[in-house]
Amino acid sequence: MATYQFTYQEFLQPEDLGRELCELLKLAKKVTSNAYAPYSNFKVGAAILLSNGKMVQGVNIENASYPVGVCAERSALASAISQYPDTGIIAMAISYVSSSGKSDQPAFPCGMCRQFISECEDRNKKNIRLILSGTEGKIVVIHSAKDLLPFAFGGKDLLKEDS
Ligand code: THU
Repeated sequence: MATYQFTYQEFLQPEDLGRELCELLKLAKKVTSNAYAPYSNFKVGAAILLSNGKMVQGVNIENASYPVGVCAERSALASAISQYPDTGIIAMAISYVSSSGKSDQPAFPCGMCRQFISECEDRNKKNIRLILSGTEGKIVVIHSAKDLLPFAFGGKDLLKEDS
């Protein structure tokens, strides 16, 4: 029998993350108001910390044809790579506000975003730390999107050297 396990961190309040990541999480929370989520009323904000110290934000953008919408994580990463293609990505903070009220349950990235972040980590040649929080309460810090995507499919599976 084989077992998959990973460790993650929990913090009680944003200030416990240290100055830079605290600021990053605050930005993710702030930009939730920019989200376009008329169908779910679940407004997600994501903020990316780059190795040059800059922060880039993204939000979810929904569409009347539901699958066309984009999550905040992919929106933020698309923006970061478009603006700073050669700059490393250190971390991404994600939070939300919801019409269903306050919650200390973080919004973990959806399956599609896990796959997307995983490939951004490959491109980045480094893990991207995920800082996840609900509308209030504890903050979960995960070392890499790959921790949330065991046995991830990736470029290595397509780009076999001997084929
Ligand atoms: N959503 C995100 O933007 N990120 C997540 O991590 C979870 C879900 C969005 C997609 C959709 O616009 C809304 O939240 C409800 O699923």
